[in-house]
Amino acid sequence: MSETASITLNGSSYELPVITGTENEKAVDISKLRDQSGYITLDPGFKNTGATKSAITFLDGEEGILRYRGYPIEQLAEKSTFLEVAYLVIYGELPSQEALLKFRADINKQTMIHEDMKNFFAGFPSKSHPMGQLSCLVGALSAFYPESLNPNATVEEDNESIINLLAKMPTIVSWIQKKSLGHPVVYPKNNANYVENFLNMIFGEVTGESTFDPVVIDAMHKLLILHVDHEQNCSTSTVRIVGSSNANLYASVSAGINALWGPLHGGANQAVIEMLEAIKADGGDADKYLAKAKDKNDPFRLMGFGHRVYKNFDPRAKIIKKACDDILEKLGVNDPVLDIAKRLEEAALNDQYFVDRKLYPNVDFYSGIIYRALGFNSEMFTVLFALGRLPGWIAQWKEMRANKEPIGRPRQVYVGATERDYTPLSER
Ligand code: SDX
Repeated sequence: MSETASITLNGSSYELPVITGTENEKAVDISKLRDQSGYITLDPGFKNTGATKSAITFLDGEEGILRYRGYPIEQLAEKSTFLEVAYLVIYGELPSQEALLKFRADINKQTMIHEDMKNFFAGFPSKSHPMGQLSCLVGALSAFYPESLNPNATVEEDNESIINLLAKMPTIVSWIQKKSLGHPVVYPKNNANYVENFLNMIFGEVTGESTFDPVVIDAMHKLLILHVDHEQNCSTSTVRIVGSSNANLYASVSAGINALWGPLHGGANQAVIEMLEAIKADGGDADKYLAKAKDKNDPFRLMGFGHRVYKNFDPRAKIIKKACDDILEKLGVNDPVLDIAKRLEEAALNDQYFVDRKLYPNVDFYSGIIYRALGFNSEMFTVLFALGRLPGWIAQWKEMRANKEPIGRPRQVYVGATERDYTPLSER
């Protein structure tokens, strides 16, 4: 007998079906509640509300578990590559050697962007934030690929947009960095691996060949893999709801980029470094800033701490923290803010305010320190988060379309003025 939930409203009883996921997560299906009872539910921030059923990512916030298509993040970060994980989340299975080679070849054919896109850069103010540029350039791809506007595109036609976007994102990201430095852009190579192609476009010079330390290449794979997907977070939910109106992939991902930009979400990795730098400039007193974070009258929050879902250590933070130590040691980088970060973490993990609220370091707490050691400036950190998250956004958009999900349109409880008559201006 399938489980149900009983609810009594205004003297009437209703039986609502309960659905159970493959990891035994339970949900009360309220999709018929308003039709049956006239009532809706209210849940600001959707802390208790599931928007969809998804087969892409499973995470358990209490146990600190994260898996992509059933594979533990720890194994993928250690043994896989970013392109292989992108294939896994988008198509559902780890690729065969042949499939991965074809995936890479298909992508390598599409890495160039239309030369007219260079004109966009001429229009951006020199100090404009890279995330604003990224969302603009990704959205603009639909202008160059109008076939992507077909709302009734087949799976194969959608896949052309998917390959196109995966291929062009590293080129767009690297050109944003080069243009911000006033340097000539470096074009992609059609025989390079995805991550090495990206590193060459970001750090390479048109005047010569570049090679990269395997430590740097491995760190980039690890960082990008750890950001690939995270179920229905703010930016992914944005991609899904924009896509649910039959908006094209580029427009949906551009919207996701803008949601990720916020300092409470992906923008936190930049905010963490700025916070650590401010603490360093102010004498490095971690306790002073912990007190500010706990003071309800102070808007200061400990960036890189806390998470809507993880009420235990973010498993990604554990991996990144270890990678941080390894990479800085191998690269011989001594970053004073790393010591401040560790002192801050140690103090917070023993502070009752943080313990009571189950506030632990999240994926953004240490990632910025590695990005900086690799040579990125802090305004590029969230762009790198977007580059890593792109396969997840694509996978979620593809799943939403495959499931033919209805347009996202939440209800509300109106609390404004009740009906009243217009008063002429002469009487106001
Ligand atoms: C990401 O959702 C995802 O999966 C996101 C992400 C992904 O991969 O997509 O994991 C990536 O966005 C990670 C989070 C990065 N953001 C930050 O590091 C910003 C700092 N963190 C917070 O702003 C906060 O923790 C959030 C936004 C992450 C979560 O906020 P919630 O779940 O809405 O929790 P809340 O704001 O209701 O806080 C609960 C309590 C409050 O105190 P009380 O009112 O109960 O007394 O905890 C406090 C908050 O004031 N609190 C913090 C805090 N985070 C929460 N206090 C100080 N410093 C913090 N960082």
